[in-house]
Amino acid sequence: MSRPLFLSLLVCASVACQGGTVPIVPEKVVGHCVYKNRFSELEECRDYVGEWTEKAATEDCEDQDAQVVLGSACGLSERLGYCFLEEGKERWARISFPGTDAQKCGSMKRGCELFGGGVFDPAPVCGGKEEQGGGGGGGGLATFLQPVRTCKAPLAGEPPGLSEGGQVCTWEMISGATEPGRSFDQYASCDRVRTQRPYYPVPPAPDSTREDARMNDAAYASEVKWVRSQIESTACVCCHSTRSPRGPSNWFVESPGNFINSFHPRGLAMGAGWIDTVGFGAYRPEDNNGFSRASPERPHDSIFVTTDAARIARFFEAELAHRGYSREDFRDNPYGAGPLDTQRFFRPEACDKGEGVSAEGTLVWRGGPARYLYVLETEAATPTVPPNLDLPEGTRWRLDVPEGGAPFESGTVRYGTVPGGLAQRFPLVGAPPALVSGRAYYLYVLEDIIRPVTRCVFTAP
Ligand code: HEC
Repeated sequence: MSRPLFLSLLVCASVACQGGTVPIVPEKVVGHCVYKNRFSELEECRDYVGEWTEKAATEDCEDQDAQVVLGSACGLSERLGYCFLEEGKERWARISFPGTDAQKCGSMKRGCELFGGGVFDPAPVCGGKEEQGGGGGGGGLATFLQPVRTCKAPLAGEPPGLSEGGQVCTWEMISGATEPGRSFDQYASCDRVRTQRPYYPVPPAPDSTREDARMNDAAYASEVKWVRSQIESTACVCCHSTRSPRGPSNWFVESPGNFINSFHPRGLAMGAGWIDTVGFGAYRPEDNNGFSRASPERPHDSIFVTTDAARIARFFEAELAHRGYSREDFRDNPYGAGPLDTQRFFRPEACDKGEGVSAEGTLVWRGGPARYLYVLETEAATPTVPPNLDLPEGTRWRLDVPEGGAPFESGTVRYGTVPGGLAQRFPLVGAPPALVSGRAYYLYVLEDIIRPVTRCVFTAP
C-alpha cells in the first residue's frame, strides 16, 4: 500500500512539487505505525486516516518492517509537521515527523513533497498554525482552552465597571464581550480566544480600500462607527484586526476607507442574519455585558455580538442591498458555522468493535486519547462549543481534562467514577444516574472540542 518511490517522482515531475493544499481529512484513525524511514534513517510515525480496513493498515505497516497498533493515533507531542499522502479513495497516511529542531523543517518539507509526493502541513515550530500545550492529535490545531471570566479594574480615564467593586468582567471566549465603549483586548486575553477557532491571516475582499462616497453622509458614517465600536468590545478583534499577531483574518476594523468594504457578501449575509450562525455559540445578554448574537432562541440574529440585534441586522441588510444582493442569493447555503454545524446535526449510529461500556463497566472507544467524554441519551443533540451548545439536554455524564492536563486513554475510566486528574463537568455534584442494562446510550468522545474520535450508540451491559 505504500507509494513506490518512482511513482512519487513522476507525480512530482507533473504537479505535486509545488506542494498542494493540506487536505481536509476525516477524523477516523484506524491505527498507527512507528517505523524507521528507509531513506532518512529517522524514526517516523504514520496514522491510517479515513477508510482503511484493519488488514490494509496492517499490511502497510508490515511494508515498513513494523507492527501496526490498531485503534489509536500517533499522538506525538513534539513534531515538525505532518506529511499527508493520499493512499486511495477517502484514505490518507498522515506521517508525523518527530522533533523540535526548526532547522530540519526545510528537509522535512522537501522529503515529504519531493520524494514522498505528499503535502507538508507544518507544526508551529516550522511556521504552521499556532498550537498550545502538548496537543497531540489533529491538523496542527491548538488545544481548545475553555472560556474563563476575567475581572479587572477599569483603565485609567475610563468610568467604573458594572460588576462588583466597579470592576469590568469579560468572558474570554469568541462569543464574549466586554462592556460597551471599552476594547475587548484591553480587558481579556486574545491568546485564549485564538485557541477556540483556527486563526490565520486571510486577505480582505478585493478593492476594499476604494473611495466610498457614502462616508461623506454623516448619518451613514456614524452608523459605521457604531458597528465598529460594537465589534471593538467583542472577541472578534482578536483575529479581525491589525493587532492580530500575524495579520487580520479577512475583514478588519482598521481597514482603510470604509471597513465594511473588507467583507465578502457571505460575511455581510451572516451579519444580517440571512445565514444561520447559531452554530458558533452565544452567551445570554445578562451574562455578557448586555451583548448577544444568534442563538437557538433567536436563530435569525446576527453573527455579530451586539447590544442591539435589530440595529446591526438593519445595517448589514442595507449593505447587502447596496451591493445588489437579496436573501434569495443565500438560499443554497442556509447555515454558516461549517464544521460546527456538521457536528451539531450529526446523528450517531450503532457502536461496533467493542466500543461502549464493557461488561466490567469501563468505557471503551477507538481513535486515540480523549480530552472530553460524554454519555448522553440517544435522542440528545450532539454537543459542540461552549457556552451554550456543549451541554445539550439529555447529557447524563461529562468528563473533561482540566486545562494543562493530559488526555486519557480508552479502558481507563469506569462509568460514574471520576479518575484523578479529570473533572466531572456534569452532573455538577454527585454521581450520574446508573445505566440501565439493555438500554441504549450515546457515547461521544473527543480528542478536543469539535474533534470527535468516537460518536456512536451502545447498549448497556
Ligand atoms: C480565532 C480567530 C477568529 C476570531 C476570534 C473570530 N474570527 Fe471570524 N474569521 C476568522 C478566520 C480565520 C476567518 C476567515 C476564514 C477563511 O476565509 O478561511 C474568519 C472569517 C469571518 C467572517 C467571514 C465569513 C465569510 O464567509 O465571508 C465573518 C463574518 C466572521 N469571521 C465573523 C466573526 C465574528 C462576528 C467574530 C466575533 C464574534 C469572529 N469572526 C471572531 C477567525 C476568527
